[in-house]
Amino acid sequence: MTDLDAVDPLAPVRELFDLDDDVVYLDGNSLGAPPRAVADRVQEVVRQQWGRRLIRSWSEGWWEAPQRVGDKVGRLVGAAPGQVAVGDSTSVNIFKALMAAVKGTDRAEIVVDAGTFPTDGYIARSVAELTGLELRPALPDSLELTERTAVVLLNHVDYRTGRMLDMAAVTEQVHAVGARVVWDLCHSAGVLPIELDALGVDLAVGCTYKFLNGGPGAPAFLYVPAAAQATFEQPLTGWTGHRAPFAMDEGFTPDPGIARARVGTPDILSMLALDVALDVWDGVSLTDVRTKGLKLTAYFRSLVEDLPGVEVITPDDEWRGHQISLRHPDAAALMDKLIGRNVIGDHRPPDVLRFGFAPLYNRYSDARRAAEALAEIL
Ligand SMILES: Cc1ncc(COP(=O)(O)O)c(C=O)c1O
Repeated sequence: MTDLDAVDPLAPVRELFDLDDDVVYLDGNSLGAPPRAVADRVQEVVRQQWGRRLIRSWSEGWWEAPQRVGDKVGRLVGAAPGQVAVGDSTSVNIFKALMAAVKGTDRAEIVVDAGTFPTDGYIARSVAELTGLELRPALPDSLELTERTAVVLLNHVDYRTGRMLDMAAVTEQVHAVGARVVWDLCHSAGVLPIELDALGVDLAVGCTYKFLNGGPGAPAFLYVPAAAQATFEQPLTGWTGHRAPFAMDEGFTPDPGIARARVGTPDILSMLALDVALDVWDGVSLTDVRTKGLKLTAYFRSLVEDLPGVEVITPDDEWRGHQISLRHPDAAALMDKLIGRNVIGDHRPPDVLRFGFAPLYNRYSDARRAAEALAEIL
């Protein structure tokens, strides 16, 4: 333990997670650690809800789970109830969001962050091809938006560098030309205070297996603000997004609310694992989480920035998320060696080492142990 851990108001929250003390886990920005309550809940869902209640469970809480769990996610991203649906993958939700955003537009282009996480770029390319719009990759600092721009897809926090965009300013910039913005919150949901409603964000998506700790392949989320729901026409008109799914109508009439963002049968085991995983935020302030995230990353940075051959590529001002990315020519081999010493981060080609800091369970001593291991290996 360091002195910083001794005065950390979030230190007790680590106890809610099932983590080995001899492992320094700094990859919660890729796969969050399991909250202890998840294993029992999954067992209860399998044994009791599925095992004993069988199909009756669909009307005992399963059917509405995408919206109910969506409201829990909504609390962490500044969305009032009834505006977030949980389900599908982030990739699928990006497709729904972009297709809905350009539906009926007379504008000509889709703009995507040129350094985006690949799936966002691939899906944006497909949407452009399907709709006949142009796809224009642009750097966030020079978006060069015009009245030709229909929609802009951006990552709130860059997966490679950890740079955070100013969501308020960029949303305003997009709106100034009458375009729509879709924010990908994969690397910020759960660790940054986000105000989707207050900023008038058009649409947002994110995954739940990183800082939201929902587990491998946990379902993603899609935010559609209440005022936009009536005109939100997404392309995947599956039966669970129908106004009356069990009427078995021939024609598709979308649900009037957020359920229109749904597609097919929800993945209940993952959904309910996520449901209980989100309880670790009960009584936790995102402002405290953010404060600790900035301190943890600053502490780690101070310990590694002068190591030989290392270049820190994460901004050192507050425009960063909760990771520190280092560039080193031997990044892949270094990460293998770190993992061999039970210090788990990850490597992104060609030469980036990423260390993610999850303030709910990472300690300052984790930062110190990781930095010491890296220094010894170097
Ligand atoms: C910014 C971003 N978007 C999307 C994804 C992944 O999308 P999916 O949940 O469909 O695998 C990731 C995964 O790391 C990501 O970092």
